[in-house]
Amino acid sequence: MSDPAAPKTVNLRYGDESVELPVLSGTEGERAIDVSSLRAKTGLITLDSGYGNTGSCQSAITFIDGERGILRYRGYPIEQLAERSSFLEVAWLLIKGELPSRAELAALREEVVRHTLLHESFTQFFSALPRDAHPMPVLAAAVGALATFYQEPESEQLIHDSCIRLLAKMPTIAAYSYKHSIGQPLIYPQNSLDYCSNFLRMMFATPCEEYATDPLLARALDLLLILHADHEQNCSTSTVRLVGSSQANLFACISSGISALWGPLHGGANQQVIEMLQSIADGDGSAERFVARAKDKNDTARLMGFGHRIYKSYDPRAAILKKTCKEVVGKLGTSSRMLEIAMKLEEIALSDEYFISRKLYPNVDFYSGVIYTAMGIPVNMFTVMFAMGRLPGWIAHWLEMRADPAFRIGRPRQIYQGATERAYIPIEKRGEGPVSRLARRHARASAGA
Ligand code: CMC
Repeated sequence: MSDPAAPKTVNLRYGDESVELPVLSGTEGERAIDVSSLRAKTGLITLDSGYGNTGSCQSAITFIDGERGILRYRGYPIEQLAERSSFLEVAWLLIKGELPSRAELAALREEVVRHTLLHESFTQFFSALPRDAHPMPVLAAAVGALATFYQEPESEQLIHDSCIRLLAKMPTIAAYSYKHSIGQPLIYPQNSLDYCSNFLRMMFATPCEEYATDPLLARALDLLLILHADHEQNCSTSTVRLVGSSQANLFACISSGISALWGPLHGGANQQVIEMLQSIADGDGSAERFVARAKDKNDTARLMGFGHRIYKSYDPRAAILKKTCKEVVGKLGTSSRMLEIAMKLEEIALSDEYFISRKLYPNVDFYSGVIYTAMGIPVNMFTVMFAMGRLPGWIAHWLEMRADPAFRIGRPRQIYQGATERAYIPIEKRGEGPVSRLARRHARASAGA
């Protein structure tokens, strides 16, 4: 809660000058120095590599307290949403700001179901891409391509339609990107199924064989999507906001978010976790030895799925997933070796001085991959699952940004450290200098010609 006694301004002294800057308070008591007048008043800018101390906006969507392991969407604790809501309900909550009424939720389901099909020419789009393409760039390209089918939204109604189309078509695109990669025919959505059962069927049914979804798996997937639905100003969401600040098309902004999510330090970590567990299982099976490597600064190995820029205690999403992971693996009896190794790694790391002193705990990605593996989802689709989950958060932030009265194009500044002004040197006076590989190749090619 905000502290009424907290100072409302900050005085910054620079040389003989002193400027007073306002301090803003959030509803949960976080405070920020508003530096928007700093450059005009002093000529100075702030520098904050990785934005660890920089707020980019004021937002009412998600609250995180990384010290205490708290995550809330629109005020509702993630634990309660995980236990009692559904992904589409959470999507509505994030996008609209309030939980839907029963009628609103039914209407949302109905709307989503009506938009699950992709335009038939999309089949040619998929077949134009290489078979062995990673599904993440395929997803990013396909979502970006939606902008070519649905023109720039202008009215409120068209923006709403674009949001629904994204929620509805994302699972279809995700499943198509997988089917394309394994050379199987695309399976059309079946609208009698719920969101996650429909996705699992599009992934695993074939024209020769139906796929009956296990309700436990559909529920586990729904839970995973809920847990990934938003996480305030993370790398991909900030990307969506930054691209959106130029008033780019919604589909283009979401596509850029997908690309940002792909990196191994962000959403790509879930794939890296399972590859790490697999390499331990395939090697000497020693969790102790891997933890020792992760601590060694001369070794590139990191304990993937551990550590977080914001959480300095147990990530609440990881705590929920650990429980679900045990249930799913217990019921299916698969991947238990992976789960054993993961639990051993966690046990060792949580009692190791290196991880304790740096406040490194399991994050959301640590157990998600084991659940996906148990479900039969291939490793290269893990980050796609993350993107499906994060979609409502990206949409909510895009909408919030556009409605913000302080909305301006995002344009950070820099401290220039390059050469100071110097006169142009004509080419004949520049000497040979070091010959680049490209120049050598060019010279060889010209000599051979
Ligand atoms: N294994 C070993 N050492 C680590 C790890 C790890 N997973 N994470 C951080 N450290 C060390 C790091 O080497 C540094 O040590 P020192 O102070 O001696 O130089 C210290 O802890 C601080 O780490 P940092 O890299 O400066 O922290 P950051 O806030 O910049 O990075 C992170 C956060 C998530 C990128 C990082 O913890 C990491 O690379 N983790 C593994 C990848 C991962 O699981 N990513 C998923 C994040 S959660 C999903 C999402 O929201 O995208």
